Amino acid sequence: HMIIYKTEAEIALMKEAALLVSKTLTEVAKVLKPGMTTMQIDKLCGDFVKDHKAVPSFYNYRGYPYNVCASVNDVVVHGFPNDVPLKDGDIVSVDMGVILNGWHGDHAYTFILGDTAPEIIQLVKVTKESLYKGIEKAIVNNRVGDISFAIQEHAEKKHGYGVVRELVGHGLGRSLHEDPQVPNYGKRGNGPKMKENLVLAIEPMINLGTKEVYTEDDGWTVRTQDGKAACHFEHDVCVKRGQALILSDYSIIEAAEKANANLNTSYY
Ligand code: MF3
Ligand code: CO
Repeated sequence: HMIIYKTEAEIALMKEAALLVSKTLTEVAKVLKPGMTTMQIDKLCGDFVKDHKAVPSFYNYRGYPYNVCASVNDVVVHGFPNDVPLKDGDIVSVDMGVILNGWHGDHAYTFILGDTAPEIIQLVKVTKESLYKGIEKAIVNNRVGDISFAIQEHAEKKHGYGVVRELVGHGLGRSLHEDPQVPNYGKRGNGPKMKENLVLAIEPMINLGTKEVYTEDDGWTVRTQDGKAACHFEHDVCVKRGQALILSDYSIIEAAEKANANLNTSYY
């Protein structure tokens, strides 16, 4: 492991990067509606980030061909934006990365469009809860496995969902992916011990059905094996004593989401 701890000044810069992603996702929350395409979301996000002196970091990352990942329904993560209009009842995770002043922000939010099955609304609620359960454990002297365990406990043990094993959260900094890996499953007390100012992207990927997934022939799109819905939330988090500091901000996204009648916020 080569864990890179940040200085307070670097944390401040990383907060700017994370917040730019939050602001970008807020722009999505303002305009998202059935009939819109994920390609339109991609353009909106790319333009917004470039207008704010930053670079969309996913574009060309290991050959990834778009600005955002837009993962609809049974797509777990890394969905390619496309020209298929979103429809009432869809859920879509929008995952965006930026580089601002040399520092990465990388986070994601799942939106519900209109009337969706209650079981899918519950999946979205519980996935977001499981993210916060993990964040609660991102404190000094805990181990990464404490985060993993908390997420798995909530999603799998308490609610019976499938926790994806193939993809994990990660350290974040001058690179998009730094050590350590942050799995969404694991054992309490396992993994590296965390010190102050470790920045993590914590990102539960939770399936309504089984945990099994496969990658499409495009080399990126990850889908559930059983075709049931999946959900994904991601926050950028700084490890602190006693309580983690969340660098990204869902409150502005949620406010826009609640103000948008085309989005379903009935789980709040
Ligand atoms: N949030 C994802 C991750 O951290 C998104 C990466 S998409 C990629 O891995 F295109 F950049 F790979
Ligand atoms: Co990430």
